[in-house]
Order: sequence, then C-alpha cells, then structure tokens
Amino acid sequence: MTSQEIRQQFLDFFKSKEHLIVPSAPIVLKDDPTLMFSNSGMTQFKDYFLGYKEPKAPRIADTQKCLRVSGKHNDLDDVGRDTYHHTMFEMLGNWSFGDYFKKEAIDFAWELLTEVYKIPKENLYVTIFEGDASENLERDQAAYDFWKAHISEDRIINGNKKDNFWEMGESGPCGPCSEIHVDLRSEEEKAKTPGVQLINQDHPQVVEIWNLVFMQYNRKADGSLENLPAKHIDTGMGFERLCMALQGKKSNYDTDVFTPLIAKVEELSGKKYEGILENEKDIAIRVVVDHIRAVAFAIADG
Ligand code: ALA
Repeated sequence: MTSQEIRQQFLDFFKSKEHLIVPSAPIVLKDDPTLMFSNSGMTQFKDYFLGYKEPKAPRIADTQKCLRVSGKHNDLDDVGRDTYHHTMFEMLGNWSFGDYFKKEAIDFAWELLTEVYKIPKENLYVTIFEGDASENLERDQAAYDFWKAHISEDRIINGNKKDNFWEMGESGPCGPCSEIHVDLRSEEEKAKTPGVQLINQDHPQVVEIWNLVFMQYNRKADGSLENLPAKHIDTGMGFERLCMALQGKKSNYDTDVFTPLIAKVEELSGKKYEGILENEKDIAIRVVVDHIRAVAFAIADG
C-alpha cells in the first residue's frame, strides 16, 4: 500500500464508525498562548475537552500535521540520529467528545490494525497506566480488562507516568493513556530477545505506533489536576511509523513518504543514502529531508 492509501484507509475506517472527517489545523497555532505549534492532533480540539465550546460532532477523525521542536513534546535531538522521530509528522487521530470511552477506543484500534491493516497480532504489544501515588492516580484496570479481550495478558505491560499519562503541555487537558507498540524485527532477532523486553527501550524496530488517551483531567497552572466536565477520547497514531510497519520497512525514511525527498537530496548533493544508523552522511540526509518538510509546511501554514 502507498502512504496515500494507508492514510485514506484510516479516514475511511473511522468514517464507517460514524466519525466526522475534518481537515488538519495549521501547524502554527494562532490563538493559544500556552503552545507555539500543534504538537498533537488534539490541540485544535482543546476547547471541546475543557467544555468551553460545543464540538462540531461527538466523533471526529483526521490527520494532523504536528511539529515537536519545543516545549513538553520535543523530539528535535533524536531526529536523524534515529529512524523514527521527526520534527514534523502526521498524527492520525480519532476523538470522542463525551461519547464513547475506553472500550470502544480499544476495540476500534484493534480492529483497524489487525483486520483492516492486517498487522499480525503476534507483533503487537500494549501498555497501560500503572498509577501514580504522588498524584493519587490509580492503575488503569479498566483498560487492562478491555485489552484482555483481544490480547494475551503477557503482552499487556504496565507503564509509568512518563509514558502512560499524556499531557498536552505544562497545563491543559490530560489523562492516562494506553499505547500500542509493534515489533518489526526478524524472526531470528525475536527468538533471541522477546519483544516484551524491548517496549519503551528505544529500539528502532520495536516502536510505539498509536497512543490512546483517556482524557479525564485538566492540569491547572498551579500543577493540580481537576476533573474535566466529561470524559473524552484522544488518539494519535504516527503515520510515518504506520507506513514503515505496513510497507515492511525498517525505517520511516525507507517509506514512500521520504524516498522521493531522499532521491532529490542524492541528486543535488551527489551523495548516496545508504540508510546506516550511525553514519554521519546518512544522519545528515535524514535531518535534511525531515527539516525541509517541516519548514515547508510551517511556512505554508503561516
Ligand atoms: N495526544 C496524544 C499524543 O499526542 C494522542 O500522543
């Protein structure tokens, strides 16, 4: 499948589940002093979560251009040095505003990944929030129980506040989250080291692809948490990583999202891209194609 087909299947799937498909908001935020750039799909919907505005529909889906170069979510130092972080990336997302909650979000994600995209179930792992005593937050037993209907219990992993409690910024909507990780290694590598040991260990072929956030709280400027007026779903799937998984590649840069840009850089520079992780030339080429995309879209979006 081409990246365009992968994107379209995501949108078609959620349309079939009664979601309104909306365009991406601009990368550059115009009216939120707490954030400079859209760092995730939910930023354009912040006022819906907080109850300040009525959503256009109770279920929405889209693909959002995101930029993670500053503030709480900043991937800049990893870009080019690894094969799966970007400054600009597309986040595929589905939202429920006071409509469905954990069960449906988990069921939809599983159905799309395993039945529509046909990712082998044995390559998938999920994480759930283990709780945090300092914030008086309990372990997410409900998410665990809903996952148990789909996946064996040894593939459901506890995660801490850093990985499994998602916050938009220093303040704003937040909540426990459940991530889906995919293991893209060869059978030989899997036999040597079980995938479960590599979740959240920065392995380039065992990566998070989708984050399901169960929005329940607002982090106030004084650091305290208050309950939101209603419970919501906010999900984000890394489009470039999904393309890597579905196109059978080991690097986002080997997907058709990036190969035309790399070919152009090769042509202009006279250098050959070899896709080697620690090779300075290859790191540089990855940085150039990543940044050129980010800059082009940031300028176009004002
Ligand atoms: N807002 C969530 C994230 O960015 C989905 O991971």
